[in-house]
Amino acid sequence: MHSAPPRAHRFPEWLLRDVALNVAVAAAYLVVGHASLAAATEHRAVSSLWPPSGIALFAIIRFGPRLWPGVALAAYLLNSSVGIPAIGSLMIAAGDTLEALIGARLVQRVWESREGPKRLRDVVALAVLAGGLSTAVAATIGVGTLLITHATTMATAASLWLVWWTGDAVGVLVVSPMLFAWSHPEAPRAAHPPRRLEVVLALIGLVVITDVLFARWGMLSFAVFPLVGWIALRLGMRGASTAVLVVTLVASLRTLAGYGPFTTLSPTANLFALQLFLALLAIKGLSFAALQDEARLSEASLRRSEERYRTLAQHLPNGCVVLFDDALRLVLVEGPAVAAAGFVKEEVEGRTLDEIFQPAHAAVLSRPFRDALRGHDVEFEFDYHGASYLVRALPLAGQTASGAAGMALALDVTERDAAQREVAESRARLQRLSRLLLTAQEDERRRMAREVHDELGQALTAVKIGLSASLQRAQRRGSLDSERHVRTAAATVDQAIESVQRIVLALRPGVLDNLGPIAAIEHAAQQFGERSGITVSLDLPPEPLLLDTERATALYRTVQESLTNVLRHANARTVSVTLRLDDDELHLRVVDDGRGIGDDQLRNPRSMGILGMRERAAACGGWLTLSRPAGGGTMVTMTMPLHPAARSLEPA
Ligand SMILES: Nc1ncnc2c1ncn2[C@@H]1O[C@H](COP(=O)(O)OP(=O)(O)O)[C@@H](O)[C@H]1O
Ligand SMILES: [Mg+2]
Repeated sequence: MHSAPPRAHRFPEWLLRDVALNVAVAAAYLVVGHASLAAATEHRAVSSLWPPSGIALFAIIRFGPRLWPGVALAAYLLNSSVGIPAIGSLMIAAGDTLEALIGARLVQRVWESREGPKRLRDVVALAVLAGGLSTAVAATIGVGTLLITHATTMATAASLWLVWWTGDAVGVLVVSPMLFAWSHPEAPRAAHPPRRLEVVLALIGLVVITDVLFARWGMLSFAVFPLVGWIALRLGMRGASTAVLVVTLVASLRTLAGYGPFTTLSPTANLFALQLFLALLAIKGLSFAALQDEARLSEASLRRSEERYRTLAQHLPNGCVVLFDDALRLVLVEGPAVAAAGFVKEEVEGRTLDEIFQPAHAAVLSRPFRDALRGHDVEFEFDYHGASYLVRALPLAGQTASGAAGMALALDVTERDAAQREVAESRARLQRLSRLLLTAQEDERRRMAREVHDELGQALTAVKIGLSASLQRAQRRGSLDSERHVRTAAATVDQAIESVQRIVLALRPGVLDNLGPIAAIEHAAQQFGERSGITVSLDLPPEPLLLDTERATALYRTVQESLTNVLRHANARTVSVTLRLDDDELHLRVVDDGRGIGDDQLRNPRSMGILGMRERAAACGGWLTLSRPAGGGTMVTMTMPLHPAARSLEPA
């Protein structure tokens, strides 16, 4: 069970805060409004400059629409304090409140934060949507109310509307940016931030110059434009908005006192011209500051991205990152490989490849770096002082604070290369060993075959001859008993001789060495057919094949092993052996109609039969494949060059 939340006996905190904020806004609105009503010329309720509209807009954007009661209350009090009847004051207050709410709503569709204009488009939105559009609402409701309550006449309504409208617009443009600028931290500053003294001097200078221009050289008053522009560029949004306010105050006071360029027409026209002048000045100053902020922001983000390169590079285990510009000057060098290669980061940064490396090394690096600047992505190996590096050079998208246009990433692959060499070498050693083994096996078989044939065969033949003599003697003597014994012994010896022949043949058929591989294959196939009952069809070249011993052996053993496999694994009824010669190459094919070799054996044979065939083929410069043809069964093919020299023939 949940316990019920404690009942609040006091005002909730948010409510207290909202009330306090509303009161604060109302107070500011009232104080500033009273001061600016002093500048009212046309009508006691219509001022040439209406800063409260800027305060209201700021408050509602910054703290939200819940501040409308403060605005409405202050506007009502202000209007009734200059003698406007309650109903009129109420309507005018409604207009002023609506103006702020609508302006805030419209501006926030463009702005990215509640922190005021940051970008050029923010300034434009403020000027057009809040300054131009929403202020028309207040002016229309306000002047309409004055007409209805007979506080003004139709004759002056139009000019009154114009002054109301532009007065609110200037209030929005001059006051709210300054409130935003000073209530939030500045955008990141340039490399040389302005000093406090510079700020003070600039503002004092601005006051004096504006005053002098308006008081004495009215025609030259536009000279404040470049001055405010300069302040905006140098001091940013705070400086710009403050400068605009300063000029607005000085110019308004001077104009009211009858000085300056805006004094020669009717009061309304003068006021309108002054407000236009101030609005344009505000737009210019704010735009300049926003542009500058935008540039600084993007510069700061570029700087941050370069910092990220550094961090990244520092964590490369054995590499480095290099950023370079159009002149192949290294603008950023970072990573453990820098020191490992004997460089000092601070010494190479800012130098070109030619200044850092010997000409030969510089040349090796320059070409791919230039290719990268042309937009290519290049990878190459670079050997430097006994180490090898895998280098990747690529163009950098967009521009960077340091002017870098390309990036190179180098990884020290010295150890990797050594490991690869090691693997390749040991593989070659293993291959030599396995070939040696096959040759040794073949030699051993040949030696045993000869030994068994010569020694055992001859001994058995001698026994056979002796037995024949004994048989004749026994027959002459008529000893039936010993005749039977001798016959049995002779039959056993015959069997032994046959076994010896079979063993010799299996070890190393003499046909192979005497009559060549084709005769040996024919002989083996015939024996296989008799022994297994499987039909063997042969398709062999008619003429005897002249092959060196290694090739002849490889060919014969492959046929032998394939046939043995058919007998042992295939459960086949027929098998065909085909041998073709073309273009100095020999193609052997053994196909059976059995159950087909298994997938795992096809993919990765590990047993010695298939591996031995592969190895023999490879040793002769050829290769062996196993497959399952569409018709079923298993197919073994071997291809090898006919002559050992064919592949490594050197031109004489
Ligand atoms: N003609 C064939 N038909 C069916 N399976 C075969 C055939 N030849 C080889 N195999 C399969 O491939 C395996 C590997 O053959 P091999 O390397 O000669 O070894 P072994 O004959 O000693 O088993 C065999 O065990 C068998 O499963
Ligand atoms: Mg086998």
